[in-house]
Parts: sequence; C-alpha cells; structure tokens
Amino acid sequence: MKKITISTEFNVFESLDQLPEEIKILMEEAIAIRKKAYAPYSKFRVGAAILLDNGKTVLGSNQENAAYPSGLCAERVAIFQAGAIYPEAKILKLAISATSDAKPVTSPIPPCGSCRQSIAEYEFKQNTPIEIYFMGESGEIYKSDSLTNLLPLVFDKNFL
Ligand code: THU
Repeated sequence: MKKITISTEFNVFESLDQLPEEIKILMEEAIAIRKKAYAPYSKFRVGAAILLDNGKTVLGSNQENAAYPSGLCAERVAIFQAGAIYPEAKILKLAISATSDAKPVTSPIPPCGSCRQSIAEYEFKQNTPIEIYFMGESGEIYKSDSLTNLLPLVFDKNFL
C-alpha cells in the first residue's frame, strides 16, 4: 500500500477592490445577475459571469423548479449558454457570487460538484485552463487558476 497526496492552491483576495479591474467588472456582473435568480425555494441566489476570448460576456443565475432536481445552478446556466451560443470561443474566466434572502453570506461560495464536472468538460474541450473566482455577497474572494484545482482526480474523456 502506498499513499498519494494531491495538493491544490487558491489565491485569496480580501475584497472586490483588490481584484484586477477586468475581474472586478466581471464579478460585478455576477453580482448584478444573481438578483435575477429564480430561487423561490432555497432563497439562495447565485450569479455567474463568463468572459470569453472573443470579448463577449455570458451570464447565468440559478433557476429552481418545484421538482427540485429539475432546477439548474447559475454556473451551468452560464456555461451551457456560452457553449450553445459561442461554441468556438474559449472560456477564459468565470466569476461567481452568492447571496441569501435568509442570512448573510460572507464566505466564498464554490461551485457545486456537478458544476465542477460541467466546467471540467469545457476545460478539456478547449485545452486551456479556466480561471475561477468565487465569493459570497461580501468577504474574501477565492481564485482558482484552473478547474482542476477544484476537482482533483476529475473524470474526463480519456477514461472512456
Ligand atoms: N446553486 C448554484 O447556483 N450554484 C452552486 O454551485 C451551488 C448551488 C444553487 C442551486 C439552488 O438553486 C440553490 O443554489 C441552493 O442550492
């Protein structure tokens, strides 16, 4: 038996003002779009903003459903929209912000496991890393240089 260790790392920004200007603008778009979330059940509102290499920005917010699993997270709404509208474009950056009608959200909210797997698909497809920035409604912002930092041992097409 042997043991393997997989390490991962993130950069941490203390506030929006510490972000590079381009990312601050992208995060502000994620913050604005989260207000349009359809979240009558969880009251948890997530916004996602994607910057593409063609200069376009694609947005998403979570869309819930009375049949709970039929809803979709903000990140997948955004990334599937990017894939559907701009299939040739590379995804450079993804900004995520979350808030709740029920309580303050002050810690960084990372993408859920299903969203990580979905984002991974596009990293493999385009063969370049996607920078991911995530935050709550206030507080620190975490930056991951690539999806693989968030999902070590990712399942990908090479296993098929
Ligand atoms: N949600 C997202 O939009 N992104 C995530 O990565 C985590 C969860 C949404 C799904 C659901 O509408 C609500 O937040 C509560 O789980």
